[in-house]
Amino acid sequence: MKVTILGAAGGIGQALSLLLKTQLPEGSKLSLYDISPITPGVAVDLSHIPTSVSMQGFTGDNITLALKDTQIVLIAAGFARKPGMDRSDLLQLNARIIEHLIEQVSITSPYAIIGIITNPINTTVPIAAKVLKKFGVYNRKKLFGITMLDIIRSNTLIALLTGKAPEKFNIRVIGGHSGSTILPLFSQASHSNIQLTTEEIHDLTKDIQNAGTIVLESKSGGGSATLSMAYAATHFCLSLVRALKGATNIIECAYVEGPGEYAKFFSQPLMLGKDGISEYCPIGKLSAFEMNALRNMLDQLKYDIQLGEDLVK
Ligand code: LMR
Repeated sequence: MKVTILGAAGGIGQALSLLLKTQLPEGSKLSLYDISPITPGVAVDLSHIPTSVSMQGFTGDNITLALKDTQIVLIAAGFARKPGMDRSDLLQLNARIIEHLIEQVSITSPYAIIGIITNPINTTVPIAAKVLKKFGVYNRKKLFGITMLDIIRSNTLIALLTGKAPEKFNIRVIGGHSGSTILPLFSQASHSNIQLTTEEIHDLTKDIQNAGTIVLESKSGGGSATLSMAYAATHFCLSLVRALKGATNIIECAYVEGPGEYAKFFSQPLMLGKDGISEYCPIGKLSAFEMNALRNMLDQLKYDIQLGEDLVK
């Protein structure tokens, strides 16, 4: 199994590379690419860690070598928010980067599964889909916006509130990955014998929607979430790897082009299989608060999607 990280030398990319070097199954290949000239050195650095995951690092014009024969491509390249910015403010900076990288993926590894981390995810994923379509290689079951960060944050915050272990939770988060489009389904935590009040659910939801901004502000202008994002992307990548290797019953939420019941691209629970998505799973029962939040997010989400589709000519 070969996994390629594009944008491997940045804050998310390096942490993600480290986690995958130590957690990918034995015999895996990890390929790093970034425009930063340190990237081959990052691979050398990681190669000294004694795991049976082989490392390669590329920069400059060598993206083709990085992508050759890869099964999974994770894209963390691009600019991060500065305080005062919304994720959508990154579109001008990151749209072209995604377009270019997906062009390269379309040419060199058209059958690979792609996981996008680069913000604004609500829009970069539709951009990627449009580019893949342009090249005639789009398979909607193989393109994911990685929204796992919202899930790990939800698990952490509900654990803090209830005093239970975070590992006990797997809160579904649906919608998108920006402001009101992030909708954690805390009412479903009753499966874990937790009864939250409407007010607690309301406050937790706001906290999750705002969590990225809190990290941003805490880093005093030095960037947004990198380490927790890398952890989240590692978790998602390892689920993909297990599914590709034939494990069954692997369900994760991600932002994908699905049945389109709410919006063309939507984050929802998905069963993963050997070819990417094997089944679109139901979002389950929503409370009145969550139903309302879902209705209210849709205009924004559809706007973000359209923006991406209109950008690719
Ligand atoms: C996050 O949720 O932390 C990331 O999307 C980065 C950001 O800009 O908030």
